[in-house]
Amino acid sequence: MRLQDKTAFVTGGSKGLGRAIAERFVEEGARVVAADIDEPALDAFMSEIHVDSASLTPMVLDVSDFDAVQAAINAAIADLGALDILVNNAGYSPKKNWLEYEISDWQRVLDVNLSGEFYGARAVAEHMMERKSGRIINLSSSAWRHGGVATGGGLPYTSSKAGVIGLTRALCKALGPYNITVNAIAPGPTPTPMTSSWLSNAEAALKEQIPLKRLGTARDIANAALFLASDEAGFITGTCLDVNGGLTMS
Ligand SMILES: NC(=O)c1ccc[n+]([C@@H]2O[C@H](COP(=O)([O-])OP(=O)(O)OC[C@H]3O[C@@H](n4cnc5c(N)ncnc54)[C@H](O)[C@@H]3O)[C@@H](O)[C@H]2O)c1
Repeated sequence: MRLQDKTAFVTGGSKGLGRAIAERFVEEGARVVAADIDEPALDAFMSEIHVDSASLTPMVLDVSDFDAVQAAINAAIADLGALDILVNNAGYSPKKNWLEYEISDWQRVLDVNLSGEFYGARAVAEHMMERKSGRIINLSSSAWRHGGVATGGGLPYTSSKAGVIGLTRALCKALGPYNITVNAIAPGPTPTPMTSSWLSNAEAALKEQIPLKRLGTARDIANAALFLASDEAGFITGTCLDVNGGLTMS
């Protein structure tokens, strides 16, 4: 059990990668809060979970609302006793060409994908600083390296995910002296509800470009998050872990 007695807060935890991360952490002994804006999906997760459901607490949360994020983090600390791990995973990408975007669409992507990750880190920082211990894992995307694969649609998304890398590095410097590691994961295209509308059409062409000749799975990404959250990764901070079968190499 690599996360025995650890506690974690996973945003966007009801579906896709966040759900896989929450389940993987529970499998390894953690008690986890899965926070998500989608209440029906949280209910479905709780009814379908195949690991110890007593170790999973669902929480409805919009990560773009800082006061709500702070209240949710405080509630999780009160409930679990402490928070060891924050996974800033919630993400959003409107499914339309960027020329059809309203400015409010651009703003919403930044509010959820970039501000939401800052809000999570800000809300938990002083708690982790007091404890001189913590792990923060930010979901970026391979899009920040290659510009995105969903033609035109991913422009604000890609911009937000590049911002997550800068946020990760700045937080690494600010929180390192308190023994808090801050890392990013950049998944390649991975089947989840977010990618369901386009990935199957692009799959064959993508596999050609991926040295391992397959798409990633949610569990591949969850395993990377598990590693960064585990004791073995205690001297790794400020980095971006590419989990994409070799699609991009840094
Ligand atoms: N699937 C991929 O191919 C891929 C690739 C690179 C990066 N990512 C990133 O990984 C993360 C998870 O992606 P996914 O594919 O599982 O997406 P998904 O859409 O399947 O799941 C995202 C979850 O975030 C939740 N969410 C959205 N807005 C929210 C908000 N304002 N507050 C709280 N929760 C909110 C959704 O309800 C959903 O449960 C995202 O940050 C995404 O950008 C995914």
